[in-house]
Amino acid sequence: MEVTLPTQAEKRRVVEAMFDRIAPRYDRMNALISFGAHRRWKRAAVAGLAVTPGAVIVDLACGTGDLSEEITRVGGRALGVDVSAGMLREARLRTPAMELARGDGAALPFGSDTVDGIACGFALRNFVQIGPVFREMARVLRPGGRIALVEVDRPANALVRRAHGLYFERFVPWLGGMLSDRWAYSYLPSSAAYLPDAVTMRALLVDAGFEGIVKRRLMAGAAQLLTARKGPGG
Ligand SMILES: C[S@@+](CC[C@H](N)C(=O)[O-])C[C@H]1O[C@@H](n2cnc3c(N)ncnc32)[C@H](O)[C@@H]1O
Repeated sequence: MEVTLPTQAEKRRVVEAMFDRIAPRYDRMNALISFGAHRRWKRAAVAGLAVTPGAVIVDLACGTGDLSEEITRVGGRALGVDVSAGMLREARLRTPAMELARGDGAALPFGSDTVDGIACGFALRNFVQIGPVFREMARVLRPGGRIALVEVDRPANALVRRAHGLYFERFVPWLGGMLSDRWAYSYLPSSAAYLPDAVTMRALLVDAGFEGIVKRRLMAGAAQLLTARKGPGG
């Protein structure tokens, strides 16, 4: 199914409505299409934050709350933020005690220099623009605070990239159509086009005031984990 990606002006509304629609079946589809690997990647992301007991960690674009659960498991205090009321409802059903707020990544409901870390799973390509979200992350983080961002990626090896392309661009939309929402699971591979290349992504993080940027490839490059800390100029 060909997907016309929403323009910048309509993106937030389209993305929010899409996640509201798929929220009830989101966890099941996530487990199926990543073969459960997304849980490993999320554990790796939270490990990258080096959470100390009681540290305040924002789970940005928290969805149904996987990262929040992992942050809590390692002793942190998770604050989940998401734009989709439907996803927040599912998070609340799963973990009633979860601290959740409805909000946009580009205007976080926290004061400046108030949080110790930020985790963000599979949401960069869904933001209307990535640069303002990185700047907002830097604003709310205390100096030295860390971020860990997990996102989809394209495998570097040509053969693996071809196999991955067939899976991600053909099978996943088909499965999504059978079990959830065809448009949403066709948007998923197409929305990777919103992601800047590695050099631009790094430049956006540096511009926002981050340093010590490390990119790790996960599962032969099917996903990426970016970690960094807020520098003195951030
Ligand atoms: C693919 S889901 C990822 C959910 C969760 N982080 C995970 O890894 O399972 C992307 C999430 O980003 C949220 N989102 C999209 N745009 C957003 C924005 N501008 N601000 C906050 N959340 C946003 C969506 O509502 C959705 O819950």
